[in-house]
Amino acid sequence: MATIIDGKAIAEKIKGEIARQVEQMLKRGMRAPHLAAILVGDDGASMTYVGHKEKACAQVGFKSTVYRLDKHTTQKELLSLIAGINDDDSIDGLIVQLPLPEGLDEQSVINAISADKDVDGFHPFNTGKMMLGLPTFLPATPYGIMTLLKESNIETKGKHCVIIGRSNIVGKPMANLLSAKGDGADCTVTLCHSRTPDISHFTLDADIIIAALGHPKFLTRDMVKPGAVVIDVGITRVEDKSKKSGFRLQGDVDYENVAPIASYITPVPGGVGPMTIVSLLKNTITASLKKQSL
Ligand code: GUN
Repeated sequence: MATIIDGKAIAEKIKGEIARQVEQMLKRGMRAPHLAAILVGDDGASMTYVGHKEKACAQVGFKSTVYRLDKHTTQKELLSLIAGINDDDSIDGLIVQLPLPEGLDEQSVINAISADKDVDGFHPFNTGKMMLGLPTFLPATPYGIMTLLKESNIETKGKHCVIIGRSNIVGKPMANLLSAKGDGADCTVTLCHSRTPDISHFTLDADIIIAALGHPKFLTRDMVKPGAVVIDVGITRVEDKSKKSGFRLQGDVDYENVAPIASYITPVPGGVGPMTIVSLLKNTITASLKKQSL
């Protein structure tokens, strides 16, 4: 039976460290880090995620401001709000929750965020720096997974890591970080996606599998080599009448059947999700320290 990686506990520990860093900043006469988030429209999942981010900021002593905009907001209005936040010296980090409602151009919105406030690490400038192995804001989910592997003392050097899903937010940066040179990386990476024939062929050879495609229970027991490390990034809402909300979160891994043969596995919820939020907090405190020591 696999060891369950308790992302929630690891995230709580790191939040404690961040809270202590904030106290130190205040003692030195600095202000608390300030994260701004823009949420456009009324997508239920996005509203929940932004709510979690707001709560996490409060827990560690950050200031946060959430701009909740109507789903009919125009590109021009959104870009003008971003320009104002870019110029606001009291704000250290800015995220725009994705996906945006139809009609808004995501890439030009990301491009408009000042690179030094881009704590999601989505701006092409920061993506390029990550690609080159230069210090920058790393996208929160891949950054969180790198931390989880490290905190769980999972060997990555020389291991074959198979990533399923090639999104800009998870799959692509994940492949980049794991194949980089250095401690906690040095993997041989295979990036599988929707056009990969016979994904099992690759996953059956994998020492580490990262499932990030958004397809509930996609990774089944017959696709996993016994002893593999399994990281589940999926968080699809599926109907569940037994829950008060009417839904539950379902990962991309058939957890019940995969856990008995894996060496390590992340649960959903309580695995990768809390680490994503903590990584955003880490990027925000980094942005704030840099800004306030200029
Ligand atoms: N949507 C899904 N993941 C993320 C994330 O990490 N940041 C933002 N801004 N939107 C997302």
